[in-house]
Amino acid sequence: MNEEKIRLNKYIAQSGLTSRRKADQLIAAGNVKINGITVHELGTEVGPGDTVEVNGDVISLHKKLVYYMLNKPVGYVTTLSDEKGRPIVTDLLGDVTERVFPVGRLDYNTSGLLIMTNDGDLANKLAHPKHHVYKTYRAEVTGVLSDERLAKLRKGVDIGGFITSPARVKVLKQTRGYAVAEIQIREGKYRQVRRMFKAVGNKVVSLQRVAMGELYLGRLMEGHYRKLTPEEIEYLKKI
Ligand code: URA
Repeated sequence: MNEEKIRLNKYIAQSGLTSRRKADQLIAAGNVKINGITVHELGTEVGPGDTVEVNGDVISLHKKLVYYMLNKPVGYVTTLSDEKGRPIVTDLLGDVTERVFPVGRLDYNTSGLLIMTNDGDLANKLAHPKHHVYKTYRAEVTGVLSDERLAKLRKGVDIGGFITSPARVKVLKQTRGYAVAEIQIREGKYRQVRRMFKAVGNKVVSLQRVAMGELYLGRLMEGHYRKLTPEEIEYLKKI
């Protein structure tokens, strides 16, 4: 009578708490109990009548998975707590009751598109390098974006021990003192866009993420959020 049983890591992931891989780590660390008894076996299965606790909280399988797009303003961190007490992105999600977390990160000083969800498996999948899609940024930089600098960015630059993959970049505006560019990169190294422009001699003065793959920020106002459409959710799952 095993048909309705599923593996414990899947149960935890489907509850929306975290990914299957992280669930395995929680199990191995002794943070998971079934019917009050700590389990360590990764292959353990659970059925509908079982009570599963993670770090002392009972979790349930039928948690609704939710997906939002937020236009993150500058001045918010994308971690879920901040030791310096700075505002965190979830502070902006007024009426969202689910425990959502950001997919990937944006710097404190970067604004723009951030996906927030409680779907641990999807978040984990999108974070994997193999699934990296082009992320599009609008960058205002100091100085001139010469053809030579653009060529370097397109080829790949050394940002300190790491050579970036070829980027797509075009200049939207060039005045005497500064330039506005659209840059698309697939990787997500720490402060990558800022470091890439620095490597060619320009300083980023403002940075906004405007798209992730085919998902666009559009006219969503800064600090505002909306639910993803079923088509957008499908798109993310298909990546
Ligand atoms: N590149 C950066 O420099 N910062 C971000 O937040 C995202 C990409």
